[in-house]
Amino acid sequence: MSPRSKMFPIVSIKPVTGEAGAMVLRRVYNAAMGPDEKVSAEAQKAWWEDIVLLSPGVEQTDAYVIWSEAGEGPEAIGYGLIVTGAEREHSRVSGAIVPECRGHGWGRALFSFLAAAAPARPWLSVRRDNLTAFNLYLKLGYVVVDAEEDTWIMEKYMWRGSAQ
Ligand SMILES: CC(C)(COP(=O)(O)OP(=O)(O)OC[C@H]1O[C@@H](n2cnc3c(N)ncnc32)[C@H](O)[C@@H]1OP(=O)(O)O)[C@@H](O)C(=O)NCCC(=O)NCCS
Repeated sequence: MSPRSKMFPIVSIKPVTGEAGAMVLRRVYNAAMGPDEKVSAEAQKAWWEDIVLLSPGVEQTDAYVIWSEAGEGPEAIGYGLIVTGAEREHSRVSGAIVPECRGHGWGRALFSFLAAAAPARPWLSVRRDNLTAFNLYLKLGYVVVDAEEDTWIMEKYMWRGSAQ
């Protein structure tokens, strides 16, 4: 690692394309979300079609992987999804960073990027006990607009469009 990259760790956020991209996305999704949320290899195709491509009512899904280039080669350290409904009024954003890479500002970078890239007003759901994510979303300008059983629904306040 060069002295410069120690001071400014190099990360990039790239759109997922093609089957190879889908495999990376599944791998990093499994690593970031933990055992309860894992997608099996057999379920990969259905997962890609249902979640990442178009499921009913969804007009557009944009998938991203966040890469660290601080190590020996590029390493996928997180993912982000933007799912936009057919009415194009809201875009649901979600994402995660692999556990060993959390706490370095990359989650903030990822969710800032997702809000800026969303084609419509971003919203998300977060479990009430997930205070790390909840605090992050508050700092990024999300406000609670609704509640479900164990989940807050949050929407980005003061969102002026993806060209903001
Ligand atoms: C939520 C998540 C994406 C944050 O990523 P991260 O890289 O660890 O976060 P960052 O280092 O960018 O920190 C951003 C903010 O998160 C909060 N945060 C980070 N680590 C924290 C901790 N250990 N305790 C409390 N808050 C914390 C802080 O508010 C921090 O704000 P700051 O930048 O002003 O210090 C990451 O923890 C994650 O992937 N969690 C599991 C999956 C998940 O919860 N996804 C969201 C589902 S809704």
